[in-house]
Amino acid sequence: MAAEHVELSFSDVGRGLPVVLIHGFPLSHEIWHAQRALQDEFRVIVPDLRGHGRSPAPEGIYEMSLLAQDLFALLDRLEVRQAVWVGHSMGGYVALAGCRLARERFLGLALVNSQTLADHDEARRGRLALVEKIATGGSHIAAEVMLPKLFSPQLPVDSPLREEARQIIAATPATGIIGALQGLARRTDSTTLLAEVDFPTLILAGSEDQIIPLERSRQLHAQLHKGTLAVIAGAGHMAMRERPEETTRALRDFLRTCGESSS
Ligand code: MLT
Repeated sequence: MAAEHVELSFSDVGRGLPVVLIHGFPLSHEIWHAQRALQDEFRVIVPDLRGHGRSPAPEGIYEMSLLAQDLFALLDRLEVRQAVWVGHSMGGYVALAGCRLARERFLGLALVNSQTLADHDEARRGRLALVEKIATGGSHIAAEVMLPKLFSPQLPVDSPLREEARQIIAATPATGIIGALQGLARRTDSTTLLAEVDFPTLILAGSEDQIIPLERSRQLHAQLHKGTLAVIAGAGHMAMRERPEETTRALRDFLRTCGESSS
């Protein structure tokens, strides 16, 4: 059965090279709050993925390719043929799925606290067990599971960033979280795909990321021939919130490179 069409909620500000900022699981556009500053130089498009934020949350499995197709439909509506895709964690997996579908629409790709690997069996089983818990207990279960891993262990326990993330996750519809978990469990490895692309790529890693270890980002970078690695010191899995200025600066530098190589 074909997936239901959804019109994504989004913001579109600034002018210049188009960049799409794609949030991770189970978050929303709100995580990119500080990076809206890029609008002084670029056209910044910030969607909510299907099932997240203010976008509709139909039932079904949210394959990464389906989430990417939603983004292509949004870009078509905005008459944006090519863009730089910046994906946080799951947003990075969505960007990679988009690249597999239509790499000619990419001017660059940044993986922010993300990776190219598929789930191993244990991780896949863990996601499917979480689906069961959320189906009965609701979205706040996802917040309880995610929060201890999201930030650097050095972030103070009472940091407002934790509460901000908890509220975003708890507000994400259970159908959205379940659809995404099932899609995450099915995703395929994209390492070869990323190594082959001929547009600029950026691996932006947090030195304290508990979900995507720094070593994994270093290994991925070593496999890319046109890739840059930016390590944000002190940041965990939420570099754009924990170190907003450094993250924005690294993205700005990367976007300038993408602009130069596309002109
Ligand atoms: C995310 O932040 O999007 C998730 O942690 C991704 C994942 O679980 O692989």
